[in-house]
Amino acid sequence: LGAFGKIAGEGIDFALKLRREIAQHPATRGIYRELANRNLFTDLYQHDRMLADRVRVGAYHRAIERYVKPGDVVLDLGTGSGLLALLAAKAGAGVVYAIDHGPLIDAARAVAEDNGLRNIRFERVNSRRFACAEKLDVILQEQIGDALFEEQMVDSVADVRDRLLKPGGLILPARFELFLDPVQLREARPFAWQQEIDGLRFGALRRLEPEQPRTYHFKPLPPGDYQHFLTRSEPVLAFDLARATARELPERVFYKRPVTTAGRLDGFCLHFRARFDDEIAIETSPFAEHTCWRDPLLRVETRVCAEGDRISLRLEVPDWADPTTWKWDQ
Ligand SMILES: C[S@@+](CC[C@H](N)C(=O)[O-])C[C@H]1O[C@@H](n2cnc3c(N)ncnc32)[C@H](O)[C@@H]1O
Repeated sequence: LGAFGKIAGEGIDFALKLRREIAQHPATRGIYRELANRNLFTDLYQHDRMLADRVRVGAYHRAIERYVKPGDVVLDLGTGSGLLALLAAKAGAGVVYAIDHGPLIDAARAVAEDNGLRNIRFERVNSRRFACAEKLDVILQEQIGDALFEEQMVDSVADVRDRLLKPGGLILPARFELFLDPVQLREARPFAWQQEIDGLRFGALRRLEPEQPRTYHFKPLPPGDYQHFLTRSEPVLAFDLARATARELPERVFYKRPVTTAGRLDGFCLHFRARFDDEIAIETSPFAEHTCWRDPLLRVETRVCAEGDRISLRLEVPDWADPTTWKWDQ
């Protein structure tokens, strides 16, 4: 049993290393991400959360009623439960292509049938391999991850936009702003090596830091965990999917800002605004109406900042779609 346990342990170690390699190697990361995404959204709980999010559903609903015109050819890129396709069909679209690379597509088709909506063509296919005879008037997309990019939104939307969208066609939503604001949490969560408890110091734990997965430094948190921003909230990046490509996104972000509300710097809170137009938008700031997105905290060593101090952020981004490749310091 002892020998078997050792072999099994080594096998698991090897499998984990292999998975990391496959996830990161340029030749295999595309297929790895597709499979991981497909797997994630096979979990019906994800759709429970998304359908129950009144802010999200309300914004898409209003935008579809405003922009989908009778007779339009519409693509719902990643239809999931079928929600956006159904709303577009109800709004009078001529035909809606509802595609998804996951197995939920058959259930989504049944939802459309139950609701008597017949002008939706469901197809289980990845958007990269999707083709249709007509050009599209509207692309509906909700490929929006907690960290905005990790569901491959920019690449997937740019691909169908360049191949299939009519000149002047619409992408909903298309305009995005990304924020990385210095923040204090409600309860301090310093790194273990920063702790001092009744005179006991834990500094030696720092030697484990290099072995930690990058996710150790990057934690999606519920909005209630955030207390306040230490500086004015300003976007560090803005782009429009009507034109953007992943290659054109900047490889680094840098800023220096004065502290406007004193407090403890626990890290940088990533949140975003997704705009359908000047009026309809979804905001994921922890201080806006709550949504189903979790705002990731980019952790740094905690420190106390006084009003007027300066906080800087330097973020290197080899790949926006993979937050485990990001590196930041102050
Ligand atoms: C965040 S969910 C949104 C589901 C639905 N549109 C909604 O708003 O409730 C994203 C969906 O897109 C699908 N998906 C992601 N990337 C895709 C791609 N490149 N091609 C087809 N489906 C994709 C996933 O399987 C998932 O069902």
